[in-house]
Amino acid sequence: MILKIETGEQNPILRQKSAAVSKIDKKFKKFLKAMVETMLAKDGVGLAAPQVGVNERIVVLNLRIDKKKWQTIALVNPIILDASVATICDDEGCLSLPGIVGEVERFATATVKFLDENGATRILELEGLNARAIQHEIDHLDGVLFTDRATKIRKDK
Ligand code: CO
Repeated sequence: MILKIETGEQNPILRQKSAAVSKIDKKFKKFLKAMVETMLAKDGVGLAAPQVGVNERIVVLNLRIDKKKWQTIALVNPIILDASVATICDDEGCLSLPGIVGEVERFATATVKFLDENGATRILELEGLNARAIQHEIDHLDGVLFTDRATKIRKDK
């Protein structure tokens, strides 16, 4: 099922802090599946639950494994445990802010702790595009949009 994407810089759903997930049940797993389908249908690298109107701490990512391989993953209640001192500045966009891009400085690598779709605790070390994506998506859970952090905001060509 493809979910409707919330848009707009002042959209109150996108601007509030989301609550932690306390129960992982069958209905919840269905929602995760719909989030993944929506992300893939919209060609997103990641999607956070507030972007589909749900203010809960859930993120899905399409992780880049190598040049040809991508893998989807759901991260429930994700937190960044550790990040590199090094940062990288690069272009970002967002499905909730269509038509604009901007440069955002992010940690080059990030270690993230989360619950998977079965409720098991997992830890992943992410780098490159994957590290950028998880930082962008966790911002969504705190009501932060990339334009709050970006420089050189411009129209996407
Ligand atoms: Co976004």
